[in-house]
Amino acid sequence: MKIGILTRNENSWCSAQLKEAILRRGLQPICFSFPRIMARVGFKPEASLEDINILRDIGAIIVRPIGRGSLEEIIFRMDLLHRLQRLGLYILNPPSAIERSVDKYYTLALLEEAGLPVPRTAVTENAESALKAFHELGGDVVLKPIFGSRGVGSTRISDPNVAERIFRALEFQHQVMYLQEFIEHGNYDLRIFVLGGQVLAAMRRFSPNSWKTNISLGATPIPYKPTVEIEELAIKAAEVLGCEVAGVDILESSRGPLIIELNSQPGWRGLQTVTSFNIADEIIKYVIGRVVR
Ligand SMILES: Nc1ncnc2c1ncn2[C@@H]1O[C@H](COP(=O)(O)OP(=O)(O)O)[C@@H](O)[C@H]1O
Ligand SMILES: [Mg+2]
Repeated sequence: MKIGILTRNENSWCSAQLKEAILRRGLQPICFSFPRIMARVGFKPEASLEDINILRDIGAIIVRPIGRGSLEEIIFRMDLLHRLQRLGLYILNPPSAIERSVDKYYTLALLEEAGLPVPRTAVTENAESALKAFHELGGDVVLKPIFGSRGVGSTRISDPNVAERIFRALEFQHQVMYLQEFIEHGNYDLRIFVLGGQVLAAMRRFSPNSWKTNISLGATPIPYKPTVEIEELAIKAAEVLGCEVAGVDILESSRGPLIIELNSQPGWRGLQTVTSFNIADEIIKYVIGRVVR
């Protein structure tokens, strides 16, 4: 059986780990990016990579970060994943889970509706309301790109003049303003890696010089064994978003744990350094279990 890895960069660390894990199982990895796919309607095959018929020749697809693109490209990519799923291909994560998780507003709204704890967050298209929310949120906020990741583009704002200046500029550029109360966390947070409704691995992340604790920005992974409460939170959050695999980010605040986002295509390079087993092997074992039944 061939297992597809949908990735921009097949030499990235995680994709390479997956390839090796697939080979260790005696299966064949195929790495490809969206632009290589040809989709057809009204004639066959429905989707192909050069002479590979995706639905016939590939047993499962693991989606790694789908990458930047124009709105048209992103919508086409999601439509394509949905179609492949409708036609019976197993995709990790399910396309609907990817859509929900990529949008921080969508994610937090669903989590709150499911009764899970999230920080107070305000989202608006207009600068006036954003400024009002800035004060409602205590005058100390994190402004995040609604579709962002890896901490890129998030800014902490605690000066009302700076806030107003930034909000007006963002409104002018038709950007959506996603504002969240700043949570004191001592430069630590939790990353819980959920797979198939269970916690596979977890770490604390510590960033000595920044409130952003993304590993990609230089934070250090620290071994961490989650409490039952944290495990249940992360598992429930993944379930609410329909993620079979998820990297759940949690801040430990003075009023208890707060979920800030779910990553539907989480990396695990940092996590692997504090984990005793091979994470890619577990992901592949899971995928095979889902396909071969
Ligand atoms: N409301 C907040 N208060 C304090 N720190 C935050 C808050 N939101 C995010 N952070 C910090 O910024 C990092 C990145 O934020 P996150 O919401 O996970 O977005 P990204 O998709 O960029 O990882 C978090 O890991 C955390 O360290
Ligand atoms: Mg994050």
